[in-house]
Formats: sequence, C-alpha cells, structure tokens
Amino acid sequence: MKIGIASDHAGFELKEYLKENLKKEGYEIIDYGPEIKKVVDYPDYAEKGVKGILNKEIEFGILICGTGIGMDIVANKFKGIRAARCCTIYDATLARQHNDANVLTLGGRLIGKELALEIAKEFLSTSFTKGRHSRRVNKIKKIENG
Ligand code: RB5
Repeated sequence: MKIGIASDHAGFELKEYLKENLKKEGYEIIDYGPEIKKVVDYPDYAEKGVKGILNKEIEFGILICGTGIGMDIVANKFKGIRAARCCTIYDATLARQHNDANVLTLGGRLIGKELALEIAKEFLSTSFTKGRHSRRVNKIKKIENG
C-alpha cells in the first residue's frame, strides 16, 4: 500500500520516525516534505499531502503538525478528503470503520512516537465497515457537492 506523509516543523521528527518504521512494516511511503527541519506553514504541507490522494498517487495520507489540528482543518477543506485527528488507537479504529477517513492527522507535540506509530498502523490496517456508515459518508459527499 502506498501512503503519503508530510509535516510542518513541529511534526518533522515524528514524520521521520513514522516514515522509517512504516517502511519496515512494508508500506511504500511518499514523503511530501519538508526534507529538512525548517520553519514552514502547515497549510502548504497539508495541501501537498492531500493532493497526493486527489491525484491518486497514494491511498492514505498522514499529516503531522504540533497538535494535528491545523493539518486537520486544512485537509478537510478539500473535496474527497475525510481527515481525522487521532490521539488514541481507538480513534484510528473508528475513523476508518465509521468515517472511511483517508487522512490521519497527528500532533507531534502531543503524543509519543511509539503511540503515534501504533495509531498509524491501526489506521492503515482497518477497513471501512460500510453498511449504515456508507449512508452517512454518502451524506458527507452530498454536502461536499452542494
Ligand atoms: C506551529 O507552531 C503550530 O502552530 C502547528 O504545528 C500546529 O500545531 C497548528 O495547528
């Protein structure tokens, strides 16, 4: 499975850690930057990651800033993106099962790297339950389409 990852400066170390460890799990990772730790604006990197999904380069995205909130707000501005900020493994389970989330956002200043890795693994390995949840996700799509 091909996934994308991007961060701002506050999420940079966690991005590097997840990239290395998710590769070991067999995921193919596209890094949308930044390449080095420098002060950047999270909307720019949220957009790069999200565009990877919209261009079908990747299946899922992981976006990391200090809190995960800024990345989440930006990602959810794009049609077709359902971004979920997860702080627990159970958040990740339900974001996939119920919401068919395609972007995981994480707070690099809020959670430890081992927990973040477990959240990411749960997110990437959990399927959408469909059924009644498809009806609800379809309503989100209808709202997006105006
Ligand atoms: C950067 O200082 C910080 O504001 C950013 O990483 C993020 O937490 C915003 O939501």
